[in-house]
Amino acid sequence: MEETKKVMLSGIQPSGQLHIGNYLGPLIHWPEMIEEFDCYFFLADLHTLTVRQEPAELRKRVLTLLANYIACGLDPEKCTLFIQSHVPAHSQLAWVLNCYTMFGELSRMTQFKDKSAKHADNINAGLFTYPVLMASDILLYQPDYVPVGEDQRQHVEICRDIANRFNGVYGDVFKVPEPYIAKVGARIMSLNAPESKMSKSSPEGCVFLLDRPEDILRKFKRAITDSDTERCVRYDPEHKPGVANLMQIYGSAAGKTYAEIEREFDGQGYGAFKAAVGEAVVEKLRPIREETERLLADKAYLESVYRAGAEKASYIAGKTLRKVYKKVGLLAK
Ligand code: TRP
Repeated sequence: MEETKKVMLSGIQPSGQLHIGNYLGPLIHWPEMIEEFDCYFFLADLHTLTVRQEPAELRKRVLTLLANYIACGLDPEKCTLFIQSHVPAHSQLAWVLNCYTMFGELSRMTQFKDKSAKHADNINAGLFTYPVLMASDILLYQPDYVPVGEDQRQHVEICRDIANRFNGVYGDVFKVPEPYIAKVGARIMSLNAPESKMSKSSPEGCVFLLDRPEDILRKFKRAITDSDTERCVRYDPEHKPGVANLMQIYGSAAGKTYAEIEREFDGQGYGAFKAAVGEAVVEKLRPIREETERLLADKAYLESVYRAGAEKASYIAGKTLRKVYKKVGLLAK
């Protein structure tokens, strides 16, 4: 039967390690998504160069993330997994689209403004044209949907603007994709500051997928609960945000409802509860960490995955790129 699944594409910046905020949030739904859609996932290594990287560190991070994603259920037999820099069409299309993107519209990107404030000593042209490379990443594969978080919505909007502008001149070359707001899953907050989202920039409040069990247990032991006098495990995000966050984590890791958790810890203090959450997370992450380690020890396998991914991606991307080159008047070789 002909493949009729809708196409979905997403890039992930290899700029840090995955943590349970990523995992219990969007990632846990990806295995269902690859059943439903024809999915392309790539590690956006070219995008990370907009900020200075330690070369050996970057190489290691890309491989680790690839292994980690496979271990989380992104089966390379069921989706296309690749590394952005392995498919030169991304950079090639980016040059062409740079010439169809306006200085003014790039200047309005909030991420550019934020990042130039943060890296005032390195406001390079790549940081400025970052959304054009991202538009190229997307448009090459003619996807129907691009799953993104709120912070990337503006970049999908500009991608749609660029595609519409190009199509307006040359006819329907690009499919204009829709942003896809994935099932949100849990919104996990920092363990030591439950009013902010869990983030790698605050490592003691953040549980990484590859953390050792003893570190996970320590982080949960020190997790902030609430200073209310009641000191019981009850779901009340407004008045007890720390406890609510831990209940959310426990609920997803152990597959329990809030009512079940309240009953389980009825009459017990926060100490026993925090220890139980830590244990549940250790058990949930154990198979992922072990599988990641196994994969990282099998470099030949990982290489075969990203090579096959790049080959498949290059075939699709090449078709779009050739069409674009022809439309704008570049002489075919
Ligand atoms: N800019 C995205 C981020 O920082 C990563 C990304 C690069 C991406 N290219 C993409 C996401 C294409 C979706 C589609 O998260």
